[in-house]
Amino acid sequence: MTDKTSQDRVVIFDTTLRDGEQSPGATMTHEEKLEIAEMLDEMGVDIIEAGFPIASEGDFEAVTAIAKQAKQSVICGLARANFKDIDRCWEAVKHAKRPRIHTFIGTSPLHRAIPNLDMDQMAERIHDTVTHARNLCDNVQWSPMDATRTEHDYLCRVVEIAIKAGATTINIPDTVGYTAPRESADLIRMLIEKVPGADDIIFATHCHNDLGMATANALAAVEAGARQIECTINGLGERAGNTALEEVVMALKVRNDIMPYQTRIDTTKIMNISRRVAAVSGFPVQFNKAIVGKNAFAHESGIHQDGMLKNAETFEIMRPQDIGLAGTSLPLGKHSGRAALRSKLNDLGFDLADNQLNDVFVRFKALADRKKEVFDEDIIALMSDQASEGADDHLQVKFLRVICGTEAPQSADLILTVDGKDQQVTAQGDGPVDATFNAIKRLFPHNARLALYQVHAVTEGTDAQATVSVRLEEDGKIVTGQSSDTDTVVASAKAYISALNNLIVRRAKTKPEEFKSVS
Ligand code: KIV
Ligand code: ZN
Repeated sequence: MTDKTSQDRVVIFDTTLRDGEQSPGATMTHEEKLEIAEMLDEMGVDIIEAGFPIASEGDFEAVTAIAKQAKQSVICGLARANFKDIDRCWEAVKHAKRPRIHTFIGTSPLHRAIPNLDMDQMAERIHDTVTHARNLCDNVQWSPMDATRTEHDYLCRVVEIAIKAGATTINIPDTVGYTAPRESADLIRMLIEKVPGADDIIFATHCHNDLGMATANALAAVEAGARQIECTINGLGERAGNTALEEVVMALKVRNDIMPYQTRIDTTKIMNISRRVAAVSGFPVQFNKAIVGKNAFAHESGIHQDGMLKNAETFEIMRPQDIGLAGTSLPLGKHSGRAALRSKLNDLGFDLADNQLNDVFVRFKALADRKKEVFDEDIIALMSDQASEGADDHLQVKFLRVICGTEAPQSADLILTVDGKDQQVTAQGDGPVDATFNAIKRLFPHNARLALYQVHAVTEGTDAQATVSVRLEEDGKIVTGQSSDTDTVVASAKAYISALNNLIVRRAKTKPEEFKSVS
């Protein structure tokens, strides 16, 4: 029995747990491998290469356990071209409902030199090992490692030997990521045309990404007749990695008009498994990675956000939901326009008139100039700050500069507008906040006690906005003030001043006859 599929079907062979795990530092635990294998099985991966059973006891146990747990997928193990490797591989995969042995040997001149075999000796080794594998298992894959740097005549010769010995899939690896799309296609076409028996087996493509062409090379091979794509989640793998599963699968889905091939993959599971593989392998996904990068469905510039709000197809060629994301992200930043800000404010429950939006937009731009990304919490903080900062406040912070660091005392240079008049002072303190509060007390003397001072980082990152809450108590009366800023000391000063403004209002309400001047 072969895996020969119909002409428009491409089978997906995932090697995250074997080639992917070979990335330096990407080792996964036994439980993590089982979890990833289950996710691959559930998302419709046709063949899971679960490991290299002879490599270690741990690999053997993982492949065995994955073979036992698999529901749909074929479970494959890797073996070098010797009987011991192949036997060990079979011991592990034989528990699967649908097992496969994958055996390989390096066929290029550089790789033939390593076991010191001449062409004939290697041909004989291939015949013997594939025959041995086929006697154990009716599903055998054979790979001439470094095929793209192997002499064409010799490649045809050894592929023919492997097919005659019983291989059901012939994989053509571009082991060092050296080929280019046209060459990748020509090689598959040449093999299909020249090798007797080629029509009875499946050709696979296995591309490494050293020149960034792995996905393009794999798709070119498919167009030339390959019907199995070998790939990994997030493109994990040796050096620059492998063809990324999510890239080939989505390319075939989105451009089905020019590449009319189907896969069984449930693409809505892509994001989930990508995140899980990133977490367990310790290889984070680069922000601008195709399909699964954090920015793959994020639009920041005003023109793009405006277009997206009117019609998502203006700047998206696939829906985020297709890969399991909730939706597009329109992160607000310094390039965002009014339309995106209004839409975000509406989402957050603020419905502003045009003139109000203009005011907020000015403040938002000032904030975005200081912060890389403006989060929902920043917008909420901006709105509550807007509401709490009245033009008729008696006290306003006009200027603040603090000097702080390892050398005490810290000092604050402050200009306060007190009832319309600017007043300036420099004060010292035990830390920048203490110095600032001392400066405020010098310009606006009062007996209120600081009952609470609290700082919250409302967003992520070192450029997060801080929201500061200050509570003052005077003669049993409590007032509070709150402010947000990317500068914690500025937020502290404004929060203190806001509390004092509330105190002044409170004093005026309780003893109106005494309220002539704030100072
Ligand atoms: O890249 C490669 O050649 C491989 C083989 C073992 C198939 O991973
Ligand atoms: Zn590889």
